[in-house]
Amino acid sequence: MRIRRLGKADDRSGFHSGQPDLDRWFHRFAGQNQFRHYLGVTYVAESGGELVGFVTVTPSMIEIDALPPRLAKRLPRYPLPVLRIARLAVSARARGQGVGQRLLRFALGLARRTATDSGCVGVVVDAKADAQSFYGRFGFEPVETIEGILAERPEPRPMFLPLSAIPQAAADSYAETKAKS
Ligand SMILES: CC(C)(COP(=O)(O)OP(=O)(O)OC[C@H]1O[C@@H](n2cnc3c(N)ncnc32)[C@H](O)[C@@H]1OP(=O)(O)O)[C@@H](O)C(=O)NCCC(=O)NCCS
Repeated sequence: MRIRRLGKADDRSGFHSGQPDLDRWFHRFAGQNQFRHYLGVTYVAESGGELVGFVTVTPSMIEIDALPPRLAKRLPRYPLPVLRIARLAVSARARGQGVGQRLLRFALGLARRTATDSGCVGVVVDAKADAQSFYGRFGFEPVETIEGILAERPEPRPMFLPLSAIPQAAADSYAETKAKS
């Protein structure tokens, strides 16, 4: 399996994660968001010529008041640069084989790299209820909701992983993956 940037020629129509909203977004919008609007970049996991997963990342900001005081300590009181995992999905057929983990680690490596290149204090993800414990395994913790989430629709829940919790090894493996692609 290898992870590489989504290409214009990739056929995304055969990807099915079992989550219709995620699949529809991948089929219809991942390309234009990346190639026309530059809103984010999607990296795909490819195995045997098939796309078995994807992660979409975008630069974002987090308000310091959203962070637990322990993490906010020593940081300035203005919006902080983060990498947002906008979407992550693995095809139903490839679940439970470590693809999601590889894609997430790839994104963490990208955050480490971004920290060096242009600044990044951590990674944010709006985690669906089903996926919160998946992110929790990697050290993500829930943060305060600042805006955009209605009280009667508390999901998805924003979760944050500080850069200090991302090992340098993640950046090294990101660089290695990039070198192979
Ligand atoms: C969540 C998702 C990305 C996980 O992908 P995956 O390839 O099946 O996960 P992996 O095989 O890499 O699992 C890595 C580890 O996390 C665990 N894990 C997987 N899904 C989990 C979940 N939903 N909750 C808790 N733990 C989970 C696995 O058991 C595995 O543990 P191990 O290392 O001890 O064996 C995948 O189930 C998916 O695409 N779900 C639908 C879309 C979705 O919810 N995306 C997240 C949107 S915020």
